[in-house]
Amino acid sequence: MIHLRPPLLPKGITQTPSVLVQGELPYHIAVVMDGNGRWAKKRHLPRVAGHKRGVDALKQTVQACLDIGVKVLSVFAFSSENWNRPQEEVSGLMDLLGLALTHEVPKLQKQGVQLHFPGDRAKLSLRVANGLAAAERETADNTRLVLNVCFNYGGRWDICQATRLIYEKGLPLTENTLSAHLSLAHVSDPDLLIRTGGEMRISNFLLWQMAYSEFYFSDVLWPDFDSHELAVAISAYQMRERRFGRTSDQLHIRKHNHQES
Ligand code: FPP
Repeated sequence: MIHLRPPLLPKGITQTPSVLVQGELPYHIAVVMDGNGRWAKKRHLPRVAGHKRGVDALKQTVQACLDIGVKVLSVFAFSSENWNRPQEEVSGLMDLLGLALTHEVPKLQKQGVQLHFPGDRAKLSLRVANGLAAAERETADNTRLVLNVCFNYGGRWDICQATRLIYEKGLPLTENTLSAHLSLAHVSDPDLLIRTGGEMRISNFLLWQMAYSEFYFSDVLWPDFDSHELAVAISAYQMRERRFGRTSDQLHIRKHNHQES
């Protein structure tokens, strides 16, 4: 096992991934957890069984983020378009959310995880919507990791609801006001987007917020994703040069000047 370089080791790390991880950690990782259906199909199981295993993979990823020191994890659990899936699968996902609220929130509370459920609650049952609000309230003071479970979420929906709010408040529409009214306004934009399951698209996830995210696509099906795969993704991220519109030379000069001062 190769350990993280000392300057990167946040206090309290209990475990390190089993691949080389050096350089800067992504502060915010977003994940499109794709491949649950195919994982289940390969095993002649109903699709919901794949989603169930997907919850286990999510639990492992949360623990790995805590261990590594990633501060924000945003996952796409149910998209605005997922209502078009077979009724059985939609209700299976709703049930899984209900179960997760009952069984996982107390554990996440102990782990120091602050929960948010960005998305449109209008179409959710009152019981589920109240459960989401209660989980957000109960975990609001936790600071180790912010976990955004995007549920009935769509990037286009988010931009529209933010624009509507700005209009209702009579505010000017600017990049700053829009960012401040999006449902992930409580966190910085994702540094790294991971999509599992071999597809290479963002499927209406964090459209506005991913303007400068690094994309990492993995063929691994989400239920098979684990702390090792996360470390591989982070290592790939660390090989990237994030230029934010600048040239490579400008970045090197800035880095040099920063080191000098
Ligand atoms: C995409 O895989 C995955 C989803 C639509 C749901 C993701 C949900 C979870 C991982 C469970 C977490 C949920 C809660 C409620 C916390 P897919 O079904 O499109 O897979 P496929 O591309 O192989 O068919």
